[in-house]
Amino acid sequence: MSPAWTKGAAVSLPQPGRITRRQFVARLGCFGATVAAGGLLTGCAAPSFAFSPISIPANASVPLKQVASDKAILFGAATQQWILQSDSEYAKDFVKHCGVLVPENELKWATVEPQPNSFNFAPGDWLADFAAANGILFRGHCLVWHNQIPSWAGRATSAAAIQDQLTNHISQTVRHYAGRAYSWDVVNEAINPDDGRPDYLRKTVWLNALGPAYIDLAFRTAAEEDPNAILVYNDYGLEYETGNAAARRAGVLKLLTGLKASGTPVHALGIQAHLQGTDSFNSSSLASFLKEVADLGLKIFITELDVSDQRLPADIGIRDEIVADVYQQFLETVLQEPAVNTVITWGLSDKYTWLNQFSPRPDHQPVRPLPLDRSLQPKTAIAGMINAFNSSAGRPPLPYVPASTQ
Ligand code: G3I
Repeated sequence: MSPAWTKGAAVSLPQPGRITRRQFVARLGCFGATVAAGGLLTGCAAPSFAFSPISIPANASVPLKQVASDKAILFGAATQQWILQSDSEYAKDFVKHCGVLVPENELKWATVEPQPNSFNFAPGDWLADFAAANGILFRGHCLVWHNQIPSWAGRATSAAAIQDQLTNHISQTVRHYAGRAYSWDVVNEAINPDDGRPDYLRKTVWLNALGPAYIDLAFRTAAEEDPNAILVYNDYGLEYETGNAAARRAGVLKLLTGLKASGTPVHALGIQAHLQGTDSFNSSSLASFLKEVADLGLKIFITELDVSDQRLPADIGIRDEIVADVYQQFLETVLQEPAVNTVITWGLSDKYTWLNQFSPRPDHQPVRPLPLDRSLQPKTAIAGMINAFNSSAGRPPLPYVPASTQ
């Protein structure tokens, strides 16, 4: 059967009106394989859908950072030196929309300290200078991770030597950017229930050598070098109910509760939010999780937001509507929690998203997960994001937002 992916008119939905993503996902579960193969739906009954377009707000053309800062929310994106250097139009859009810049790769251990105690801050410095020159805040990502580390890191003949590697890396890096990086992802992705530990901690070189105390040590070392920086624990897989999400949330809460009880200088949870156009999240359960985090006295940053369209239909109009809908629904939910005060997308344009490499579409069409398309034109996603910013309640002013982004 040939389906009709109909925009704006109900065709054969059980209840006419806009299809919710939950309905969409339920149907996609039935048709997923054929949708992924090229957008033609066969099998299952009555495969046609209706979409009401995302409503376009009156302030749709206002830069995202401005709409967000009207509600004391900081908006920005991750980017890379080579992109800003090679694409001046993109650089203009970045400055227009972003109040915060996060280096996508330039401050990872493998780049910053490729050989023991031999530091390369040139790429990070270039980005910090670009941010400062354009009145944009600069946020560091990431000091301790199990990925993108050189082969020597975390390996030595004694635990004391590994501890020295860890503290030296953090001290030198945070010291170098003290007063320039207003915030750091100090520890990234330390939870992994699949590793089978009762505390859900990921078995990394750092955990194996130093035990769970490496996390507290990392935060204290960072705080010593820059007591004013907002120090963040950052992780993924916290948004949905599927798979091991419940265990991931439990692990994160247990970790943060323990850190706070020990007086560890951790100030915020970073929720990466690499979302899927085909997954549904449960708003009330997500809101409860956020409240539990906020009740620990922590702020919450959305740190790596994007919406994968890998398994969505081929039709670009429909894809963009669904992606925009996910942006809007997710942001409307998380922004109900007053502790959420920062929204950062992992890239700004589809031209440069990591998903081109890591989550390509089976039909080989370019992916469309970000606010701007490959030609830097604004997409429906921007309307969805602005709708969510517009409808969110105001927050206390952010102490660290420079005047130019207000
Ligand atoms: O540096 C080499 C370069 O020398 C080589 O020529 C080139 C060839 O492909 O590869 C370069 O390394 C790439 C690196 O990014 C720097 O550009 C790697 O192939 C590539 O795999 C790496 O991907 C990054 C990935 O983290 C690594 O795990 C993505 O760009 C980056 O978006 C992604 O970001 C992570 C966050 O840090 C943490 N949360 C998840 C998020 C998405 O995976």
